[in-house]
Amino acid sequence: SPVAAVIPAAGRGVRLGPGIPKALRTLGGTPMLVHAVRAMAASRAVSLVVVVAPPDGTAEVKSILDAHALPGGSPGGGWGRTDVLVVPGGETRQESVRLGLDALPPGYEIVLVHDAARPLVPVDIVDAVVEAVRDGAVAVVPALPLADTVKQVEPAPAGRPEPVVATPDRSRLRAVQTPQGFDRATLIRAHETITDDVTDDASMVERLGEQVVAVPGHEEAFKVTRPLDLILAEAVLARRRL
Ligand code: C5P
Repeated sequence: SPVAAVIPAAGRGVRLGPGIPKALRTLGGTPMLVHAVRAMAASRAVSLVVVVAPPDGTAEVKSILDAHALPGGSPGGGWGRTDVLVVPGGETRQESVRLGLDALPPGYEIVLVHDAARPLVPVDIVDAVVEAVRDGAVAVVPALPLADTVKQVEPAPAGRPEPVVATPDRSRLRAVQTPQGFDRATLIRAHETITDDVTDDASMVERLGEQVVAVPGHEEAFKVTRPLDLILAEAVLARRRL
């Protein structure tokens, strides 16, 4: 079955500092979103990418993508075998993903959801996630062990130290990345059923009571969130171009 990738790219990226939407910031002179689309299109499995743009920026995102597509490409837009669609997003990441799912044509039984903010994910990770869904998992996350010990704290008044209440066993914790891969029907059911605030799509599937599984992620699939991450991303790109 062909695979579609939904790329939520409608966030403003306030933690990165003021300026243009995060997905349109450049890395090595190329918008982050373009790197993310290329990373999905690099997988032979992925034949459609749905980019979810800022609601007031759909036309701009379309023209940026057109400018970076291969010349003389297919009517879909010159991304090799992969077609690219652009749809407007919403107020939250969750809403943006749902709007992307709404735009999926029939026939794609496997859906990846990939943050535009993870522009450098290696294609091997994309393929490993697809393979795990093909092998029967309804939801797959790429995940890495943590370097830091994690503490749970109680909220405290601003400026006061926070009381620590627990230290989960680090060896069983994972930091999860994207692309996350799903059986399409399961992901759609999750988005129709779960209305709690969540930070990733797999946790919605967990709340349905379905089994989510983790496969090894990759350091280079890190999320560009804060200014330091931009420096790291530039360095990773520069090393790849050597
Ligand atoms: O805010 P966070 O870093 O978790 O955002 C992850 C991804 O979700 C980013 O690629 C961002 O553009 C996207 N997003 C979105 N619509 C929103 C908020 C975030 O598509 N309303």
